[in-house]
Order: sequence, then structure tokens, then C-alpha cells
Amino acid sequence: MSRGPRGALPRRLPEIRPEEYRAFRDYLERSCGILLGEHKGYLVVSRLRPLLEEEGLTSVGALVERARREPGSRLRQRIVDAMTTHETQWFRDRYPYEALRQTILPELAERRPARVRIWSAACSSGQEPYSIAMVVEEFRQARPGALPPVEILATDVSPTILAQAEAGFYDGPALRRGLSPQRLQRFFRLEGGRMRVREELRRMVRFEQLNLLEPFARLGTFQVIFCRNVLIYFSNARKRHILDRLAQALEGDGYLILGGTESTTPHSDRFVAVRAGGGLLFRRR
Ligand SMILES: C[S@@+](CC[C@H](N)C(=O)[O-])C[C@H]1O[C@@H](n2cnc3c(N)ncnc32)[C@H](O)[C@@H]1O
Repeated sequence: MSRGPRGALPRRLPEIRPEEYRAFRDYLERSCGILLGEHKGYLVVSRLRPLLEEEGLTSVGALVERARREPGSRLRQRIVDAMTTHETQWFRDRYPYEALRQTILPELAERRPARVRIWSAACSSGQEPYSIAMVVEEFRQARPGALPPVEILATDVSPTILAQAEAGFYDGPALRRGLSPQRLQRFFRLEGGRMRVREELRRMVRFEQLNLLEPFARLGTFQVIFCRNVLIYFSNARKRHILDRLAQALEGDGYLILGGTESTTPHSDRFVAVRAGGGLLFRRR
């Protein structure tokens, strides 16, 4: 176990008192929307322990106090980073990518807007936007010239995970989960002994830090938004608010693609569920 410069923590996890837990829960929810359940004290201290050590603090209460006292510091970001789950994989759940291939890209090829804009709104380590880019490349190869230029915007609240995503290096299980050997061969190359997403795909994706709790109208509008496996962590009020703003960020009757267990109902009536690619997508009304 590494010790921070001033750290003199005991080896066992620090205790978290109920009022400290409540203060932390409230702080986290306001910072990034993640709503912890009632009895997650153990999870909180185990995830925050390295940060407490680095900061030379002995309690979660002291961490929250410092973060509140220094709102402009990187502390808030580091707390959010420690508490977010970045679980993801290539072509997660398959149906969103089948829907892109079978339904959405053909519709866009037919309609031919000046450019196609797709947003991956909680992109984690990049598997989601790069999977989208792979489907676009495959579609282009199958139907040369059918699509206008395609721009994929990938955002996440965590700058640490975004930096990893943008670099595009993947190893071990993260490289293989959900990726076929054919796609691995076609879309990656060996660089410095590690596998990296090829430049032609990386050029298609632009990465930017964005907290979904904050305004995002400046991003403009999109024909397709992937917002997968993130609203699940938020309160119903936050879900409602974000879904309304996502509806505004969609062009016309554009598509919203949520996680496999997520739905716009009962939180928003601005979408209609449609079946495509073997799963449910949501179109703006
Ligand atoms: C479980 S991952 C989902 C990744 C990917 N969309 C997928 O379905 O595989 C959730 C991601 O949401 C991000 N996240 C959490 N709160 C967020 C917020 N308020 N704004 C933007 N991203 C957030 C986390 O950093 C994490 O990378």
C-alpha cells in the first residue's frame, strides 16, 4: 500500500459516520448526478482511500469539507473519478450497432444531410465511440459515397478516462471484450508493443469533457445520441431533466440510444420507442 506525503493512515479502512456519509452522498450527487444508495459507506471509503492518503486526510468528512472549501481545485474531479464506474466494452449489447448498420445509416444515406453527427455522451474509455466509427467505416466500404461526412463527438465527465480513450491504446481483456478477430485486425495496429485504434478511426472521433448535469446546447444538434448506462445512476428528477435536454439536442426525429436496461419512460414523453437492430431505441416525437 502506498503512503501519501503526509499520510499516516491506519491500514484498516477509516470509519465513516452516518452524517459524513450523508454529506458525501449529497456532495457527489450535486457534482455529477450519481446517487448512492443508503448503505454504501464501505464502497465509499474503499474507493476514496487512495485519495485520502494522498491528501493526508483521515476521514471522508474532512475530504468533503476540503472539496467544498476549494471548489476550483482538482479535488472535486478526483472524487468524481474515484466514484464513477467505467465499465464498458466493444459493441456493447450489439443491437445499437445493428440498428446503426441496418436502419439508421441507411436512412441517413437516403436523406443525405450535409453531415452526420453522432454523440456518445458518456463514452468511458472509448469503446462505444470507436465501435460506432467501425460501423460507419464498414458501411462506407459496403456503400462507397452513400454517406456524407460523419463526425462523432465523445464526451465524459472524467478527464482521466477521456485521455485514455483519446490515446486509443487497449490491452488484455479490454482489447478483446466484444471485438471480433476480423475487426481487431482491420481497425487496430501494433504501436510500441501495444494495440492502438487506427488513425482513420481516431480522426473520426472528437473527445471533450462534459458533465451531463451542465448545459450542453453549445454542442449543437445530432441525428443520433448514445447515452448508455449512465442515467441509471441518477435520480428520477435528474433523468427527466437530462432527457428533456437530450431531446432538444436531437435533430428532427433523431434517435436516442440508451442502455439495455434503461428507458425514457416514465421520465419523459418527448420520445417514442421503436424497435431496430433487435432492441429498443427512442425517437424524438
Ligand atoms: C458505465 S460507463 C458507460 C460507458 C458506455 N456508455 C457504455 O454503455 O458502455 C458510465 C460512464 O458515465 C460517466 N459519467 C458519470 N457521471 C457522468 C456525468 N454527470 N456526465 C457525464 N458522464 C458521466 C462515467 O465517467 C463513466 O465513464
